Parts: sequence; structure tokens; C-alpha cells
Amino acid sequence: TANPYPVYPDPLVTFSGKEVKNAKMWNKVRRPELVRSFEDNVYGRIPENTPQVTWTVTSEQKAELGGIPVVIRNLNGSVDNSACPSIEVNIQAQVIWPEGKTNLPVVMEFGFISGGLPRAYGNSTPWQQQVVERGWAAASVNPGSIQADAGYGLTSGIIGLCNKGEYRKPTDWGALRAWGWGAGKVLDYFESCPEFDAGKVAIEGVSRYGKAALVTMAFDERFLSAFVASSGKSGAAGWRRDCGESIGNIVSNEEYHWVCGNLIKYGTDPMTENDLPVDQHELIALCAPRPCFISAGTFDGDKWQDVTGSFYSAAMASPVYELLGKQGVGTYLFPGVDNGLTDGDLAYRQHHGGHEAGPNWPYFLDFFARYVK
Ligand code: GCU
Repeated sequence: TANPYPVYPDPLVTFSGKEVKNAKMWNKVRRPELVRSFEDNVYGRIPENTPQVTWTVTSEQKAELGGIPVVIRNLNGSVDNSACPSIEVNIQAQVIWPEGKTNLPVVMEFGFISGGLPRAYGNSTPWQQQVVERGWAAASVNPGSIQADAGYGLTSGIIGLCNKGEYRKPTDWGALRAWGWGAGKVLDYFESCPEFDAGKVAIEGVSRYGKAALVTMAFDERFLSAFVASSGKSGAAGWRRDCGESIGNIVSNEEYHWVCGNLIKYGTDPMTENDLPVDQHELIALCAPRPCFISAGTFDGDKWQDVTGSFYSAAMASPVYELLGKQGVGTYLFPGVDNGLTDGDLAYRQHHGGHEAGPNWPYFLDFFARYVK
């Protein structure tokens, strides 16, 4: 019953019905048409002339994280608002790295920025510490400082600033893309610093921020990798699956601001998920050939995120990785908990524990390490 629409669009067949036979055709024809379709039907388009962002260091301190001397730098990205001075946008970000090192890979999270040293739930090691222990930099960007996580915020934030305080048009960007744009601005900052290697940046997030991590990675090809945790519908899980959420949930009062207005029509009778010209395995395919790690929790805490559907999406995206000379997840059989499929360039792992990234952090970091050696 979770599979009412068993026929998914084929990522390797163009909208006009031609088979995609090689990397050139993927890059020249299929990838661009999928990008445009995801923009116009699901996530919205980023305006052509988004304003400049000027980064300043707001504070910097030396500390010890897990016994390692680190630098903690807080950043403010001031967005040029000369086109609409009543709307101010200041992107808040933080980066922590082992003191004295340069040219570091960076793992960046959509999430909370704490004033002091990073902390984790329970007894686990904070993810920032795990990253620093590998000799890399750990960054955070505060999504709410880019675009509010609420519909009423759409006439402010970066979306409101670009629209000069007016409402969106049906293909204008939603918060998921806006958050991705902001992460891209942090990556711009890394390009200007000798401490960081902007060619080795991974983006991570959980739940709504897992959706944002996948969207960031799919559209912005400068990101080397993504760790997409418990992302569910509008993340890794296929729309055509009837498990957990549906388009109706995502376009409800609480969440419609994540996506573009056009998605609403696919959740409105007589249209259904099956009318969408794309599905989420094709969003994962847009990440190819870059390494991407899809993560989910156990069924007791995370079933509503359609963890099985997220695996099927990875399986259905794998032929695109293979066409580009990379390795996908290698099977259509759901692997079950703690049995990670992490040898390929597209990885899937369901961890013990619920709606979080926690237990999969070491597995993602091992995976990422293969690409940043
Ligand atoms: C809501 C939403 C989910 C989302 C979750 C979260 O429950 O419906 O799609 O993943 O919030 O971000 O925690």
C-alpha cells in the first residue's frame, strides 16, 4: 500500500523520450532539464541577481575541543540591501578548526550556533569535535538568519529582499533553496581564506535541514559532498510513495514556505504525486558524480520519514552514478538497520536511533575521508 504509483520517471530518459546514453548527454541535456523542472515544480528558482554578501569576523577565540587546540570564528554575512533598505539580512555562521592548519576540508551543518564550545546530546561526542579530530574544519550556518522557517517570513529574509517585500510568484524560491543559497555564500567565504579548501566542503543537515542539505548539494555543484539525515518528503524520499508525509503535508500552512508555490497544485485534487514530472531519486541523481550519503533512523523513531522510500530513491539514482563512472548503492534490496551500503560514491545507511544524524556521523566521516585524502 506504500506503493500506489509504482512507475517512477526514469532519470536516464529525457522529457522528450530520448535515452541518455553517456555523460555528455547527461550534462548537456538531462541534468539541465531536471534542474529546471525541480525549480519550476518543487523548489523554485533563485533570482538571477541575488545581492552581494560581505563577510566580517565578529569574534574569534582560541579554545580546546576534545583536547585539540582550535580556533572558533564567528562570522556575519551582511547582504547588500540597497534595493530594499527596509529588509535586512545578516547570515550568521561559525567555523571551528585545528589551530595553525591551512587548506582544510570543511564539514558544514545547517543548524544551531552556540556561544560556547559545541555540545552533543547525552554522552556522544559533538560532531564538531569528531570533525576536528580528523584534522578538518567544522562549520555551521544558521538557516533562520538567511530565511525564516515560517510562511509569514516570505516577505522578508533573502526571499523578501529579492522581491522587495512583495509575495512570491509560483516559481520563486522557497526556504530550502534560500538556505542552500546561504550555504553557498559561506562556501564563497571559504574561497577567500587560506585556512580552508573550498573544493572540499560537505554539507549536512537533519530533517528539514536534511532536505536543505540535499537541495544544496543537488543544485550547487561546488559542494563536494552531502550527509543527508532523516530528510523524508521533499528530501530523499520519493513523492510517489504513500508512507509518512505527502505533498499535502509539505504544502500545508506549516511548511509551504520550504518549496515553491507551484508544488501546491500537485497536492490539490485532481492532481496527485503521480503527476509530478520528476521524483526525488532524480534530485539525488543531480548530486552525481559527487559523493552523497543518505542517512535514516530506525522505524520506531523515523518511519514517518519514509526511510525505506529514501533507500529506494538512492537505488533509483544509482544508474546515473554508474553512467558517470561511479558506484551507486549496488542493490534494490532494502539493507535494514546498521547494514550500511557505504562502499560506493552514493551511500545509504539506516542507523540505530531515531530522527537524528548522531549514530551515522562516524560512518559519514569515514566516507568523506576517502575523498579528501
Ligand atoms: C516536520 C515536517 C517534516 C520535517 C520535520 C523536521 O515534522 O513535517 O517534514 O522533517 O518537521 O524538520 O523535524
